[in-house]
Amino acid sequence: MKNGLEDVVAAETQLSHVDGEAGQLIIRGVSLDHLAGHASYEDVVALLFGGLLGQAYDRAELARRLGEMRAEVFAHVGAVDGPLLELPPVDIMRALIARLPDGDDLDTALRLLAAPAVFLPAALRLKLGEAPVAPKPALSHSADILAMLGDRMPSKQEVAALDAYLVTISDHGLNASTFASRVVASTKAGLTSSVLAAIGALKGPLHGGAPGPVLDMLEAIGTAENAEAWLLDALDHGERLMGFGHRVYRVRDPRADALKGALKRLTTADPASHHRIQLAEAVEQSALAILKARKPDRPLDVNVEFYTALLLDALSFPREAFTGVFAIGRTVGWIAHAREQALEGRLIRPRSLYVGPLPQQAA
Ligand code: ACO
Repeated sequence: MKNGLEDVVAAETQLSHVDGEAGQLIIRGVSLDHLAGHASYEDVVALLFGGLLGQAYDRAELARRLGEMRAEVFAHVGAVDGPLLELPPVDIMRALIARLPDGDDLDTALRLLAAPAVFLPAALRLKLGEAPVAPKPALSHSADILAMLGDRMPSKQEVAALDAYLVTISDHGLNASTFASRVVASTKAGLTSSVLAAIGALKGPLHGGAPGPVLDMLEAIGTAENAEAWLLDALDHGERLMGFGHRVYRVRDPRADALKGALKRLTTADPASHHRIQLAEAVEQSALAILKARKPDRPLDVNVEFYTALLLDALSFPREAFTGVFAIGRTVGWIAHAREQALEGRLIRPRSLYVGPLPQQAA
């Protein structure tokens, strides 16, 4: 029995590879370095879906159908009632996705990509007492998400930054939510069921629920001069430094650099944001030195959440929405893995080791 299934290989995949020793992420044969900042979200959807959903389609047709699906699913926003509005944004998003039909075809897949992108901005606006903004199908996916969030046309730089984020987190090996998606797919349930299971796994604080605390930490530290004393104090109180460490990576998480680059391209002109990045870099340097001294046998480096927090904050997503934005980006990976599992895998049904009492022997 391997607690947490650590190092257990439970699937073969052609979708992505996480090399924890080299600090490299490969998505369908392409290194993340060549994708983030270069490819759009639609490019990565075409890359990950290719060959898994029946018909061949070109990039332009895929973008057009995705836009139509955003317009189609917007009708479900009207189902949000008072009790639902009390829930966190990611739970409202999940409840609306549960209204969608199950299936395993391309239309179901595109509807599931459109759904979180439409439902999360709508939920955030409804919670503020504002009217949801209808999708504009002709926009790119990232541009439309930002337009629905802020009720204004986003700048090219903002669209590029969200594209870089969604591409960077599109797929990442057999993480907990992707495994949940594959388990459901292995029973031949439909893609909607797989995505709902994956969202349930993602929202926990040990997986996709972590980036908000990074912002809390940076705000609490406040200035670069304060970083070392604050971090040492946190460790002395038994706390973990948010945005550092990973189960698989033993070196720097390559997604952190991809997001840091996107953040710098977004905020070059804004002095306040520039100051924030300088603070983050100072905290990062200080934390790495302290962790190296405190845990010499355990390589602990920066992970994806550190710069995720700053990037999504700079794009005006409130911190309670960060997990939902993660779901918007990861849904393409969940669907691709579910299709791969359904097409090539067997029912996932491991065994457990019984450690309970035995029945009393009859006298
Ligand atoms: N700060 C301080 N110490 C740490 C940190 C950290 N961020 N991460 C690990 N350690 C220490 C642990 O205290 C432990 O030390 P010990 O053996 O002396 O008790 C040792 O390193 C190993 O810790 P594990 O929890 O066994 O390592 P694991 O690889 O399972 O944990 C995790 C990975 C959960 C990400 C961890 O590094 C952590 O809690 N990081 C902070 C939270 C965070 O940034 N989460 C986002 C991760 S990215 C993602 O999931 C998308």
